[in-house]
Amino acid sequence: MPDSRPDRCRRPLKDRLPHPGAEYVVQFDANPKPHPEFRRVASHLGARRAEKLVVCRDASAPVGVPVRVRVVAVSRPSSSARGHIEVAYLGRAERDPYAGLYVDPFTKRRFEAHLAAGTPVLLEGPQGCGKSSLAEAAANATDMVFVRFNASAVLETTDFLATLQLAVENGATRSLWLRTEIGLALERAAVERDRRFMVFIDELNRCRELARNGIMPILDGSRVAWDPSTAAWLPVPKNMVFVAAVNIGDGFTGTTALDLAQVDRFAVIQVDYPPREAEEQILVSRFPTVAAAHIRAVTQVAATLRTDPELRLAVSVRATQEVCQVLSDERFRQANDEELAMLIRAAVCGRLRGAWDDPSTEAGVASTKITEILAETPTRRRRGG
Ligand SMILES: Nc1ncnc2c1ncn2[C@@H]1O[C@H](COP(=O)(O)OP(=O)(O)OP(=O)(O)O)[C@@H](O)[C@H]1O
Ligand SMILES: [Mg+2]
Repeated sequence: MPDSRPDRCRRPLKDRLPHPGAEYVVQFDANPKPHPEFRRVASHLGARRAEKLVVCRDASAPVGVPVRVRVVAVSRPSSSARGHIEVAYLGRAERDPYAGLYVDPFTKRRFEAHLAAGTPVLLEGPQGCGKSSLAEAAANATDMVFVRFNASAVLETTDFLATLQLAVENGATRSLWLRTEIGLALERAAVERDRRFMVFIDELNRCRELARNGIMPILDGSRVAWDPSTAAWLPVPKNMVFVAAVNIGDGFTGTTALDLAQVDRFAVIQVDYPPREAEEQILVSRFPTVAAAHIRAVTQVAATLRTDPELRLAVSVRATQEVCQVLSDERFRQANDEELAMLIRAAVCGRLRGAWDDPSTEAGVASTKITEILAETPTRRRRGG
C-alpha cells in the first residue's frame, strides 16, 4: 500500500532509504517464490513500511517473530518501483519489557535497585505519565509476578486483604470473607518462596485516608498484615515487594494526600511526562499510518502546555494517544489542519476543568494556547489538502 503521508511524499526517495549499517527489528516471511536467492522477505523496517521490499539471503532467519537485522545494501536507490533493501540477519530481538515506554534511565535504575532491596516504592506523578505501565514493566524486567490492586475501592483498613461478602446457601444468607489480590498474593508468596512478587497498589491516594493505615504495618519494619478472615496477623514474606502509585497536583477530586508518616515508609520516585521527542517516537511507532507532521503537532501542543511555567497543565499521554487513534482511523486519514486542531482541543480541553470558551478556566486557557501553538507548528496540510 503506498504511503500517503504528505511529508514523506515530499522528501526525495534517497532521503527515505535506510543507510547501509543501520540496524532494525523486522518480522520476516518466507519468500513465496520457488528457489529464491533471497529466502526471507519483509515489508517493514521497525514500525515503518519500507520504501522497497526488504530481503535476506539467510534461510536460518526465523519467520513471524521479531528479529534484528543490519542493512547491507540498497539496490536501485533512484527508482521507486524497482530494487530492494538487502539485510543481514543478526539474531532474534530480545523482548524488552520497557519497549514502547519512555522512562528516564536514572529513574529506571533507581526503581530497579529499590525493588532488588525490597524497599517499598511510591511512584508519584501527574495523570497518564506512565506510572502503572512503569510498575508492570519493572516487574517483568526483574522477573517478578505482577499483582495489581486498585485502592480506590478501599473503605476500611481491612479491605486491603479481604472483603466481606454476603453468600446465599439453601435460602439462608451468611457472610464470608473473600481474599483480595493482596490477600491471595500473600498466600501464594508464602508457598512459592523461590519467586518474587510485586504488589502494585494503584491509586493509593484515592482510598479513604484512615483506611490507608491498614497497609502501614505491611510496609514498615514489622512486615505483618492483619487478616480479618482469621482475625490474626500474617507475616509478609520477604519475597514480596510493594509499589504504590499516586497522582500529584490539586486537580484530583476524590483523592487525599498521604500524610508524612505514610510517605516516609516509601522510597519516593517522581515520574514525569516523556520529553516531546520521546513521545513523538512512541506515537510514531504505535500509529505508523498517522502523518508524522500531525504527530509532531500533537506532541508540540502537549509539551508546551505541560512545561509552560504559567500553565503547567497535566496533559496525559492518553490525550495524545486519543488524537492519534482517531487520526489512524480511515475516516480521518485525510484530516486537514482545522480537523487536527479540533481533535487536539477535544482530547486536551475535555480533560481539563472549565468550559473551552471561558478563558478564566483551565480548559479555556488551553484552548487559546492550542490555537497559538498550532499557528506556529507547520503541518503542511490545509483544508482539502
Ligand atoms: N512514559 C510513557 N511512555 C509510553 N507510554 C506512556 C507513557 N506514559 C503514559 N503512556 C501511555 O498512556 C497510557 C496511560 O499510562 P499509565 O496508565 O501507565 O499512566 P499512569 O501514570 O498510571 O496514569 P494514572 O495517573 O491515570 O494512573 C497508556 O496507554 C500508556 O501506554
Ligand atoms: Mg495508573
